[in-house]
Amino acid sequence: MHGIKTVGVVGAGQMGGGIAQVAAVAGFQTIVYDAYPASIERCKADHPKRLGRLVEKGAMKKEEADAALGRLKYVSALDAFGSCDIVIEAIVEDVKAKHDLFVKLAEMFAKIPGEQILATNTSSISITEIAAATRHIKGPSVAAPEQVIGMHFFNPVPVMKLVEVIKGLATSQRTTERTISLATAMGKTPIPANDRPGFVSNRVLMPMINEAFYAWMEGVAEPAHIDEIMKLGCNVPMGPLRLADFIGLDTCVHIMDVLADGLNNDRYRACPLLRQLVIAGRLGDKSGRGVFEYPKK
Ligand code: 3HC
Repeated sequence: MHGIKTVGVVGAGQMGGGIAQVAAVAGFQTIVYDAYPASIERCKADHPKRLGRLVEKGAMKKEEADAALGRLKYVSALDAFGSCDIVIEAIVEDVKAKHDLFVKLAEMFAKIPGEQILATNTSSISITEIAAATRHIKGPSVAAPEQVIGMHFFNPVPVMKLVEVIKGLATSQRTTERTISLATAMGKTPIPANDRPGFVSNRVLMPMINEAFYAWMEGVAEPAHIDEIMKLGCNVPMGPLRLADFIGLDTCVHIMDVLADGLNNDRYRACPLLRQLVIAGRLGDKSGRGVFEYPKK
């Protein structure tokens, strides 16, 4: 019932690359764009490796991997998105950058017949606020606020089952149903949530991660022990401090700021030690050191 054949992905980083991979494997024509040519090149090189690995493991046949790769197109201009039925944005977590992009996309789709959906993979920015950027755009076919929705994927996208589907204030029921149907067709489990700070996932996860930093800062236990206690005691694949490194400590601080400001409650303020590590440039896996060290492979 989603009626979607072509998926556009803006942002070819870890999340965008993963989303594109999953869409192509699920049989959708997939177009990937990134403003940085180096990101596109990395993504283009990464997809055959990742799909090749799945073939090696017996999780996929070689013909299926080749067919998925054949459905992936990498482009250097947004104009190529005219044929997309949905665009999933996975760029930097910056309100202004997202506004600018959504306005550009909505203006483009206003001139093209269809009911294109504009989805954002934001982890914490309000869907209503992103959608509002498109409200002045009119045309015979308008991807206006009713067609803007949150599709929050989890890292690593090919592995994680959940897509948190977030309805903004103006998102239509039809857009929500089509998005849920698409996420299911992509092999994911879509679960709806409302547009409140952090939605459900980060509203619950981030305070837990933040508390682990407090436990470390106050000397309750050393980092490796905090993680081991949580892994073995709560049956999670990564302890909260390892997970913070995996997500990025700067992202954790950013989401805590969104929670503290959006919910107007200081109990969501980022732990000073977490903030200090970010200031020191210890961002986690991506910088080679966060709570733990990650020597280059
Ligand atoms: N991309 C694609 N596939 C990946 C991957 C990646 N980046 N990382 C791991 N995998 C897959 C691979 O298929 C791998 O098998 P392979 O090594 O044979 O190729 C398989 O997962 C298992 O990986 P590993 O053996 O390397 O390691 P683990 O068994 O420890 O699993 C993990 C790695 C899947 C990352 C697991 O530790 C895990 O599930 N961790 C928790 C992840 C999590 O909680 N993510 C959510 C973060 S919150 C978020 O994203 C929201 C945001 O808003 C903050």
